[in-house]
Amino acid sequence: MKKLIIFLIICLFSISSVGCSYSVYAKKEKKEKKVKTEIIAHRGADDRAPEETMSAFKLAVKDKADFLEMDLRETKDKKLVLMHDPTLNRTTNGKGDVSRFTLKQLKKLDAGSWFNRKYKNERIITLEELINRYGSNTKYFIETRRVNNKLKMEEPLVKLLNKKGLIKKKKVVIQSYSAMSLQKIHKLNKSVPLVQLTLFKSKKEFTDKKLKEWKKYAMGIGVDSKLVDKKLIDKMHKNNLKLYVFFLNDKKEKSEQKRVINAGADGVFTNYITYTKSLTKSSK
Ligand code: G3P
Ligand code: CA
Repeated sequence: MKKLIIFLIICLFSISSVGCSYSVYAKKEKKEKKVKTEIIAHRGADDRAPEETMSAFKLAVKDKADFLEMDLRETKDKKLVLMHDPTLNRTTNGKGDVSRFTLKQLKKLDAGSWFNRKYKNERIITLEELINRYGSNTKYFIETRRVNNKLKMEEPLVKLLNKKGLIKKKKVVIQSYSAMSLQKIHKLNKSVPLVQLTLFKSKKEFTDKKLKEWKKYAMGIGVDSKLVDKKLIDKMHKNNLKLYVFFLNDKKEKSEQKRVINAGADGVFTNYITYTKSLTKSSK
């Protein structure tokens, strides 16, 4: 009898240890399956060089960011330049609306000293100049906006990307707060991956109706980190949408990046490329 009890205890112990090693393995397996979070260099490496300049993008390419993020503006002579603000005041020694100047006039401006005197020779660049420099050696996350409330940049943008072969080579994503801009691009070329940027104030605004609407033209959405958590990410994934995170609160960006990457964000618009790389390595 005593032998039987000892035999039963040994059997029970071995079954439980096999079970727990399997669950540890399964957890590790699932974790490993986690899709990598894309590192999207917000306005280039704008922590170390003046945003949206060739120096900022050069650093981001050197750091092997997955994407270069940039903002388009249209000049008076219809050129597509890289500039976040609608005016020149913050990031150049010029003043006034970008759309009121020709490219030639803009090229005379100093687009680097505001950041650091050593960048005094930086100039405003066109999207074409950036693509001519890096071509398909990097990927482009391009933000469109309406020009004086009109949809003017979509056609020249799609034409340029087609000419450079970047759509065919899957090297570009276009993002916008303007649904109309994205819908126009979708009509022009359905194979361009699109991301609908949002500025909602509450998670409740991400209704099934909204998601269904976005799904008609976009593959993903952009959301400020304060609204992002695992529940929202899972909801997007269930609706076959990716979720990309930007950080309106610069001061909290690093801690927020850690949180949203661990929650499963598909990409982050980072102002700190090397920091984000350290997180995505450890979040496996
Ligand atoms: O494009 C994503 C993110 O950059 C949106 O915010 O204002 O930096 O263009 P903003
Ligand atoms: Ca942007």
